[in-house]
Parts: sequence; structure tokens; C-alpha cells
Amino acid sequence: MEIERKLVIGLRTYLVQGNFKECEDQVEDARRAFPYAFIYLAACGLPPSEKMRATADEVTHYSTEPLGLGVPNKLIIEKALAEGALQLVIVDGDRQHFMATVKDLLDKYGQRSVAVIPERKKRFLFSREELHGPTVEDLLNGFLRLSFGCNLKDPAPGLYLFPNARTLSGFKFNAQHSWVGDAELVKNVFTHKLAVESPEISVREKTYSISRRDLVFNSFLESEKFFGVTLAEVAEFIKTHPEESLFGGNFFEIDRTVEAFGGFRSQLKIKGMKALVLAGGKGTRLKPFTHTIQKQLFPIANKPVLHYIIEKIVRAGIREIGVIVGPNKDQVKNALGDGSKWNCSITYIDQDDPAGLAHAVLTAKDFLGESSFLMYLGDNLLRDELGDFLKEFVDSGFAASLTLKRVANPANYGIAEIDSHGRIVRLLEKPKNPPSDLAIVGIYAFTHKIFGAIGRTKPSARGELEITDAIQQLCEKKENINYRIIDGWWEDTGTPESLLDANVLILSSAPPTPAVKGKVSKTAVVKGGVEIGEGTVIEGDCVLLGPSVIGAHCVIGSGALIGPYSSIGDNCSIRNAQVLGSIVLEDTAIDCTKQIIFSVIGKNCRITSDSPSKGIDKVTLRIGDDTSIKV
Ligand code: TTP
Repeated sequence: MEIERKLVIGLRTYLVQGNFKECEDQVEDARRAFPYAFIYLAACGLPPSEKMRATADEVTHYSTEPLGLGVPNKLIIEKALAEGALQLVIVDGDRQHFMATVKDLLDKYGQRSVAVIPERKKRFLFSREELHGPTVEDLLNGFLRLSFGCNLKDPAPGLYLFPNARTLSGFKFNAQHSWVGDAELVKNVFTHKLAVESPEISVREKTYSISRRDLVFNSFLESEKFFGVTLAEVAEFIKTHPEESLFGGNFFEIDRTVEAFGGFRSQLKIKGMKALVLAGGKGTRLKPFTHTIQKQLFPIANKPVLHYIIEKIVRAGIREIGVIVGPNKDQVKNALGDGSKWNCSITYIDQDDPAGLAHAVLTAKDFLGESSFLMYLGDNLLRDELGDFLKEFVDSGFAASLTLKRVANPANYGIAEIDSHGRIVRLLEKPKNPPSDLAIVGIYAFTHKIFGAIGRTKPSARGELEITDAIQQLCEKKENINYRIIDGWWEDTGTPESLLDANVLILSSAPPTPAVKGKVSKTAVVKGGVEIGEGTVIEGDCVLLGPSVIGAHCVIGSGALIGPYSSIGDNCSIRNAQVLGSIVLEDTAIDCTKQIIFSVIGKNCRITSDSPSKGIDKVTLRIGDDTSIKV
């Protein structure tokens, strides 16, 4: 009995619906080829079948999730050593069928220390997604070839034969991740200068192994760490030594894979960033509305500006968001909550004294720590997504990055001056003689170097710590500052006019899909994209023109006309009037015979008129919450 336990066969496998028979055959093969061996089965995925359990001597590991290819190896070897195995064979369980080969080799080499790494006739295809499997294999194998001069055609580990325990115990395991765990084994084979045999083995038809893109890219990341070479260096090596390193892949796919990996790595860096959204400030230019509502919560197309911003940040891949809050902090907290609605986490940072944008950054110092971060002014809306801007920032390694936009009237903006080499050299606030037409948009990316720069910044004439002055400090320290000029629209919703502009831009760039959740009378005319909320009643022969949104539980009375470019909040009633290109907030009632155009009307207002209008009288209104007027 003692002898039987000295030869241990370790089979490792990932069980899915389609490979049960394959794995059962494999365990039976092992049993047949080595009737005296002790067979360990390490499996993940679906639970091993009764047949497998009955045929193997012990299921040494089972989990639903893969542990990583190297980890079961580690478990098998450690257990075999602990149980006094003298010889160990490890077989990769992925659709291979070569117990006869294993037996031949064992018979041939007996007790000598030999590692057997098979040259497979058929290769594994790793990924069904956009990655080319054989190229991925060549790249992963390239790490071994470049680092250890391994010249096997297919060093992808599949089978190891370690005929004695002494050799085994010299192996150190540090398996963190699939592939790298196996690379650790192969590395040990080479560094211990074990004889390596590489017989050709045949594997069954359709040797596909499915691997997700992220798993492959994580393997690249860990391989870079483990081998101390970059994927780009491996790619270069393969391209300059194709005869010894290119077996299934091709040059085109190598370039594509390296580029895609670059994108993945940037995305990881972006994921490691934080975002700081500024939702404090006084909002004086937006009075009277900001007497009652924090300006960043003002709804555009019936959705608060801050919601658009959080959605955009999350879409770019950042999940940890700090929100600077000022006087109306409870309103902001109620509107955003803990962020779970957007699958992100939101931390609120009090800035009781809104003493400037750079002051807001200082206030968030504890939250930001050493992280690079995106700073987003909570009243800025823009069409472009943030992905390219952030990718360029994380790839540049620069201290900061700005978004810029060409404007017709640069004297009204903060402006960036760019030198002949395309570098930002100076920032100017509303310059009389603008050196460029590149306005600074309220979206920035910073490394923690910004804190040193803010420390060197003095309050401006208006007594605020300005972020432009802090960035200027970076320029003066000769720090590189990246920038991206955006093409799409940008709106700083700081004034009533800009709210109306933003309303038009949002409604026209993402026109509401005609959706009727309420009731529309048969004689009403609805044209273009008009969203009609739940419980809303459209009466008689009124006319609704899109793009427009009408909230829930509204009544639009017969004879009224709404739109285009109108946003009507929940619980409003509009009778007789015509409302065009306007924003009307919730709980407001309009019953007048006028045409209300380009107007911003707050919550819970009453607008009436005494006399029927002669012809069509137009009015443009700016009315804060809870106001009653006659027009
Ligand atoms: P601003 O529009 O420059 O300032 P403000 O909101 O006080 O408005 P106004 O000039 O009309 O009085 O601010 C840009 C964004 O940054 C805005 O979302 C508010 C926010 N902010 C803070 O969170 N803290 C601050 O100290 C300042 C000045 C602004």
C-alpha cells in the first residue's frame, strides 16, 4: 500500500456543461494507465460527477470559481509532498487525452528528475472575444522565451513529470493568478536546470479553451510583474525572432493586442482615480432660482444637472466620487444619496465657506489622498464623453490635464495660452487681449502635485483661491500639462440663459424617445419626440411638439400648445397657454392666453392673465419658486 501512494497523479480541470465526458474519460484513462497510482482531482466550475469521484482517489479541491490555473498545481504539489509522494505527475485537465504518453514517459525516465512539457499538436485558442487566441499564446509564451531562453514550441504548461520528491521540494510557489502560477512552475524547471523533455502529444479535436479578455489582460499584467519585462518588449522580441517564437499568431494581431492591452491598462488607471464634483458655491448669477435650489440640482430636460455629471463620470470608469457641498448640502445629499443608484460610492465633503475652486480641492485633501483625480464643476454640461480625455491624462504621466474649447468671445473666459510646441504656458482669466480662443472648460484632471501648487497660490483680487492660479503655479515649476480640445458642445449652466441653452442642447442631442405613459386624447396632436410622464393627461385638441418632456401627473388642457424644446416638471397644469423653448419646474400652474417663450419658471408658481390676448402676445419670464403673477 505504501508504494501505491508514492506515485501521485494530479488532474486539474475546469468543468463546464460540455466537457464532463472528456474529464470522466481522462480520470478513467489515468486509472487504467496507472492502476497503482493515487489520483488527486482538483476541479472547479460544475461539481465533479459521481463517476469522477468514484474513479479518482480523492477530490483534493473543488470550487465553483476558478482559483487560477497555478493554484490547483500548488495545492496538488503541496499535498503530494505532505503525504510523502516520491513521484508526481500533474496533468492539465483541459480537453487533453494523453495518459498513454504520460505512462511512456514515466516508464522511460523512471526516477530521474525530468520535467515534461508537451509540444501540443493542436494549440489552445484562448479567447472567443476580440483577441486572437494563438497570438495571445505566442505573447504569453514570449515572456518565458525572452526571460529564460525557453525554446519549446509550446511552453504553455500542460503536463509536468517530476519523478522525485527532492526536486519537488525545491519548488517555491507564489501563484497569484492563472498562467503566472504555471509560469512559476516552468520558471522553476528552467532555473533548477531540470532536463526538459517535450514530446509531441496529440490532443482531441476542437481544443478550444475559452478565456475572457480581462483574464488574458490580467495575465499580461501579472506576467509583466513576474518576469520584469513589458508586453511591448515581448512583442518586439517575437517580431525580431519570429522563427523561434511565432507559432500561431501574426504580426498584425500582435500590434492589435498590444494596443488593446494599452487601453485596458489605461482603463485600470482611470478606475484607480477619484472624482471630485464641486456642488457648493453661491450661484449668485442664477438668482432668484438659487434662493431655493442649489444650482447644480436645477433640472435640464427634467433631470438634475448633477445626475448627468455622475452618469458621465461612472461611464468613464471612475467609481469613487467626492461631492463638495455648501449651504444647501441636504438638497444635494437627497438628490444623490450614497451613489448606489449609479453603482458608485459618493462621499460628501463640507465646504461651508465657498472660497474658490482651489479651496474646494484643499477641503477634499483627506478624501483624495495620493490619488490622481478628475475635478468636475457641478454646473458644467458637455456632450463629449470623458474616456479619451482621461486616457490621455493617465498615459501622459503629466501633472495635470485641462479640457479646452474654442470660443468666439475669449475675453469672457479663462483662457489657455499654448506655445509653438503645443505646450500650455500660461492661463489668463478673462484677458483683454486674449492670446488664444481656447477657453478652459470646468473639467480637469490632476495628480496630487496640485496640492503643492495650491500651497504656493495666493488669494485673488476677489479673495478666492483660484484653480487657474494653482495650475499657473504648475506651469511655473515647468510641470507638463496635458490638454484636450473638445469638439462637442459645452454649457456652464451658471445663468438662466445658459440653462435654456443647455435645455435645447440636451433635448436635441438626446431627443426623448416618444413615450406615452399618461393619457392622450384622440384629438390632440403630438409630433416629434415628446416624453409624457405617468399619470399625465393631455386633454382635447392641444398640440405637443418635440423634442420636449412633460413630467408625471400633469394636466395639459385643451387649447394649449407645448414645445418644441420645452421641459415641464411633474404635477404642472397648463391650460390655454402656449409654452415654447422654456423650462417649467414642478407643481406650477399656468392658465393664461399668452405665448410663454424662452422662459424659466420655478416650482409652485401661478401664472394667470386677466384678459384674453389680442393676437398672440409673447412673454419671456424668469420667475423664482412660489411666485404668483398675472401676465
Ligand atoms: P462658479 O460658477 O464659479 O461659482 P458659484 O457657483 O459660486 O456661482 P456664481 O459665480 O454665480 O456666484 O463655480 C463653479 C462650480 O464650482 C459650481 O458648481 C460651484 C462650485 N464651487 C464650489 O463648490 N465651491 C466654491 O468655493 C466655488 C467658488 C464654486
